[in-house]
Amino acid sequence: MNRTHHCCEITKADAGKTVTLSGWIDTVRDHGGLIFVDLRDREGRTQVVFYPQGDSYDGNLSRLKPESVIEVSGLVEPRTEETVNPRLRTGEVEVHAKKLEILNDSQTPPFPMGDDQADRVGEDLRLSHRYLDLRRPKNLNILRLRHRATQTVRNYMDEKGFIDVESPILFKSTPEGAREFLVPSRLSPGEFYALPQSPQQFKQMLMVAGVERYFQMARCFRDEDLRADRQPEFTQIDIEQSFIDREDIYTLIEGLLQKVWKEILQVEIPLPFPRLTFQVAMDRYGSDKPDTRFGLEIVDVGEVFSQSGFRLFSQTLKDGGVIKAINAKGLADITQGELRDLEESAKSIGAKGLAFIKAEKGEWKSPILKFFSESEKASLGEALEVEDGDILFFAAAEWERASTILGRVRLESARLLEKRGKLEIPKDRYDFLWVTDFPLMTRDGDSDRYVSSHHPFTSPVVEDIPLIDTDPSKVRGQHYDVVLNGVELGGGSIRIHQPELQRKVFEDALGIPPDVVQSRFGYMLEAFQYGAPPHGGIAIGFDRLVAILAGVPSIREVIAFPKTQKGQCLMTESPSSVTPRQLRDLHIETIKTKD
Ligand code: AMO
Ligand code: AMP
Repeated sequence: MNRTHHCCEITKADAGKTVTLSGWIDTVRDHGGLIFVDLRDREGRTQVVFYPQGDSYDGNLSRLKPESVIEVSGLVEPRTEETVNPRLRTGEVEVHAKKLEILNDSQTPPFPMGDDQADRVGEDLRLSHRYLDLRRPKNLNILRLRHRATQTVRNYMDEKGFIDVESPILFKSTPEGAREFLVPSRLSPGEFYALPQSPQQFKQMLMVAGVERYFQMARCFRDEDLRADRQPEFTQIDIEQSFIDREDIYTLIEGLLQKVWKEILQVEIPLPFPRLTFQVAMDRYGSDKPDTRFGLEIVDVGEVFSQSGFRLFSQTLKDGGVIKAINAKGLADITQGELRDLEESAKSIGAKGLAFIKAEKGEWKSPILKFFSESEKASLGEALEVEDGDILFFAAAEWERASTILGRVRLESARLLEKRGKLEIPKDRYDFLWVTDFPLMTRDGDSDRYVSSHHPFTSPVVEDIPLIDTDPSKVRGQHYDVVLNGVELGGGSIRIHQPELQRKVFEDALGIPPDVVQSRFGYMLEAFQYGAPPHGGIAIGFDRLVAILAGVPSIREVIAFPKTQKGQCLMTESPSSVTPRQLRDLHIETIKTKD
């Protein structure tokens, strides 16, 4: 093509030159004797001026419409002082068009393309024309940022000696963790592949193969309920390394994230990241992904109420539960509606109620105050540093539930305080931290069955191995999560590499019957008999990482063609039905089920 410059490049130094630009018409302003067009391409904008009276453009001027694609040749001219546009990089010049070629006409777009206006349009409309949505400079910039982040990661991993290996997308169904997407096999009637939830088993096989240091920008597939930070297909920076311990992974990932932050945001992240055990994270923040940019920490007030006349509290303690409280500082002016919402939210995660005490005008107010003695009130006031204008919330339940409930109350109180201007959570602060020492397994609901808290390949902490037989809930896993501002950015573990221990975890700890272990993981247990090195790894959610770098609230905004909450691609209209013939070839029959 004939393009000589990008639309961001022309400056006063080019005055007098003839240039050729191509791109999309951003705006057209017809001033009678002259027509101003802002021409836009990937790199920027330049003002182009057409003089219908002086120059001939082969009658094309009436076709100048926003989003049409044109090529213009003309003369660079400096703008007069009053017409300089300081907000535009090319704002000191304009191109006096001599020749116009319309490369393609555009119909009026289904939504206004200016960033301010487009942001107010419904997301569904934008996603169904995602190619137009992406054409907006704001979104093209996100694609670029993502690309630069990918490059930075690749360079870093390469420098550290990691090699990029691709792993299969058609995998085997190994139902653990999230639900899988299944793919029917034509060649093996009645059998299915599954799309991998992550390359976990393959990367471990690569360690057995002697690769030692593996990474991949890996696509993962999970049939989960979707939210702002979850997509059915997403990307991980997937990493595995042999002959290491947890400290090596911490150092590797801290270096990676520090480098990404420096190159993309020019922000220096201090190292090492703080570490919190799961126990402490839950105790203080009620979450295994704590946002430590603000306080409002949770306090155990069990001691205060050990002799309490309030039956709800004393009975909970007797039953082995805990009484936890949080001081939402300055939130005593919470409205009835907000209080109700907060209570509903707590109940949705298992709270029986949400007792509270307000400190207002020198007085404490609460329906439960009558049950408390003076000394209990005094100790409470001290433990939670209560001042006028505060409100305390309580959770009486078993440890993990009480913690989680107040963790939720903490985040929602922070939001309410922010709304009132009483708390500021800085947007440009990056609180990275590690959460360590997770339990290897947790009970599956109220049943006696245990499930892995991470996945069944995670190694127990060595000195806890005997507890697998005696007290499974006490076994700690060599599992770690890296957390940023309340977001679980990534997680990983040191793996089991001994076949006997892996079998023990599958069968004795997780209660998977031996024949099922054999059919799902037999190849893995066999592989471990041929010299498996000790190994471990991690996966970082790349979409979440880019969303934080870009400062956007949803990972949908950093994925070129994302799916909606219902898992649909509105642009291509998938998923969609297929022909009976296709189904027959796959040996599949569909039936309608009642909900
Ligand atoms: P895990 O399941 O913790 O670990 O996933 C690692 C990270 O991937 C991101 N993530 C998601 N991002 C977007 N949409 C989703 N649906 C989604 N699910 C997870 C999160 C998460 O922290 N194989 C192990 C890693 C290992 O042990 O090495 C794994 O996949 O940021
Ligand atoms: P009740 O005695 O059931 O009327 O409860 C008194 C107060 O305690 C109400 O405000 C309830 O919402 C609250 N409450 C009830 N159960 C719990 C619980 N397990 N933890 C914290 N507060 C609770």
